[in-house]
Amino acid sequence: MAGRIRDADIQLVRERVDIAEVIGERVTLRNAGGGNLKGLCPFHDERSPSFNVTPARGVYHCFGCGVGGDAITFLTEIDGLTFVEAVERMAARAGLKLTYEDIDGRVQRSPSSQPGLKQRLLEAHTAAAAFYTERLIDPEAETARRFLTERGFDRDAAATFGCGYAPDAWDALTKHLRAKGFTAEELTGAGLAKPSRTGNLIDRFRRRLVWPIRDSSASTIGFGARKLFEDDQGPKYLNTPETPLYKKSQVLYGIDLARREIAKTGRVVIVEGYTDVMACHLAGVPVAVATCGTAFGAEHIRILRRFLFDSESANGRIVFTFDGDEAGQRAALKAFDEEQRFVSQTYIAVTPDGQDPCELRQHKGDEAVRELIERHTPLVQFALDREIAKHDLDTAEGRLHATRAIAPLLARVKDRGLVDEYIGDYAGRLGKEKAELRRAVAGVASGQSAEEVPAPRRSPDADSTQLRAQREILKLALQHPQVAGPYFDAVDATPFTDPNYRAVREAVEAAGGAGKATAGANWIAGVSASCAEIAAQALVNELAVEELRIDREPDAVYVRTLLARIQRPVVEAEVADLKRRLQRVNPSTDKDEYMSLFGKLMGLEQHVRSLRDQAANAVE
Ligand code: GTP
Ligand code: MN
Repeated sequence: MAGRIRDADIQLVRERVDIAEVIGERVTLRNAGGGNLKGLCPFHDERSPSFNVTPARGVYHCFGCGVGGDAITFLTEIDGLTFVEAVERMAARAGLKLTYEDIDGRVQRSPSSQPGLKQRLLEAHTAAAAFYTERLIDPEAETARRFLTERGFDRDAAATFGCGYAPDAWDALTKHLRAKGFTAEELTGAGLAKPSRTGNLIDRFRRRLVWPIRDSSASTIGFGARKLFEDDQGPKYLNTPETPLYKKSQVLYGIDLARREIAKTGRVVIVEGYTDVMACHLAGVPVAVATCGTAFGAEHIRILRRFLFDSESANGRIVFTFDGDEAGQRAALKAFDEEQRFVSQTYIAVTPDGQDPCELRQHKGDEAVRELIERHTPLVQFALDREIAKHDLDTAEGRLHATRAIAPLLARVKDRGLVDEYIGDYAGRLGKEKAELRRAVAGVASGQSAEEVPAPRRSPDADSTQLRAQREILKLALQHPQVAGPYFDAVDATPFTDPNYRAVREAVEAAGGAGKATAGANWIAGVSASCAEIAAQALVNELAVEELRIDREPDAVYVRTLLARIQRPVVEAEVADLKRRLQRVNPSTDKDEYMSLFGKLMGLEQHVRSLRDQAANAVE
């Protein structure tokens, strides 16, 4: 017969336990007036808070998804506990002793209800964590202790984070937990033990330094275990496998210690490893968390948002720390694919010399870690700079390519104000007019990706005088090489902003140049054969037959006008660049360089003026 908790005890538990505290461990709650608290609902995905808690009445209710109840319901729903387990857990935190009685009211010694699976797995983890920390003082754990000391973690730090040692034995933990009454199924279900090849149950973690991984209410739900010995064949880090408690896509190491500060400051710092979380917390960055052996993903964001309480008004900041290597950068840039508001709140702190926060603290101290976090760059800026760094901004071609590379990135940012800010900042650096960069971004946004190869059969945008002129001059080179020839060959591929057009321009050159060509099938066949790609070949044929945009025989004026139109943006960019370089040169100390640049600038400006005049010819 099932022993029941006395009704009076349940009532007492409800009175003594603060529902705001219980729920606050999972969701950041803010005062909503009238004695109500509000937060982002943990039971459904939402952006603005509709989850309400009324402490005075001990209830919660979500206006978004309709869930509701008291503190007991909350625990049964969120942690999958049974009613009795939820009451027991709350009683434990309130320091209340429960009395169980049978149906006739006779007092029983202990609960006879079957605890649920999750509860058992949690209990097994609590016992395992205690076991591991006790083993850390064993003589055998010397290497583990030395590892901690070398990384700048003293006893207090190890205790705060619950560091432990998994001993050098096949089944030390398994035996220990079996003796405490846990079944083989419970131990394998918890990911603490696994069957060996011979069928015996053995420990999952052996000869390793272990960190308990705790959920936001500080229950241990898994472990991370680091290899200590060279002859350990396993991976450097070994984590708990997926279990009913441990979902790696949702686990954030350090969240139990960080969640209050995250809520208070609206900041969270994402680091890569256990040691980095420890280092940050000890260095005065108590908002650090890490994923455990998995990439930071959408689920992690969802959970963090609940703690950040990132409503429209709040200005939450998520700072990722990465070492500067390619993999780290790629990981950071993945955040770009996330929801837009997340993007605008995301910052990147790149560690110097590829040191992680733990190493930084070891070598340079706490202050250096705090500085690292403070020196964060907005994600968008980080991504733009990274693209731009791939190009040589001292050449017009480099700036053109850089512009094309960043346009798609900017096009993905949905916050118009933000995009405008960046256009303002980057147009100058790229020697472009703001309007020009804005057009490039708009072009990508409306589907004519500058990066995507446009289908050769599709006519380029009719509004784009640039692309129209590029197309027309290519037609002239193919159809009337004698007219276009000398002028055409003198202009390199830089002004051809469309990759397919550029490819055709290059094929013309590879086929010997328009200047030496004779109009006809052989010329077209020669250019076509010189194309590196089939797409360009198809375009060559198309351009060879497409009618010119004028109804008369083309002449040199027409050719030069078109060339002037396509060259103008390139030369204008060069002028802007020279002006910027001039600003950096001190005319009194670097007189020669100044004069030389100045001379070039004059020449280029003259060139721009003549291009402008030529380009303005009414030839069509
Ligand atoms: P130490 O090198 O021990 O100081 O730690 P670290 O945190 O600097 O290690 P590292 O930078 O190599 O790894 C960072 C994090 O990535 C670790 O904390 C793990 O969570 C994870 N990780 C690293 N190696 C492995 C691995 O082999 N398997 C798994 N599952 N995770 C790993
Ligand atoms: Mn590291």
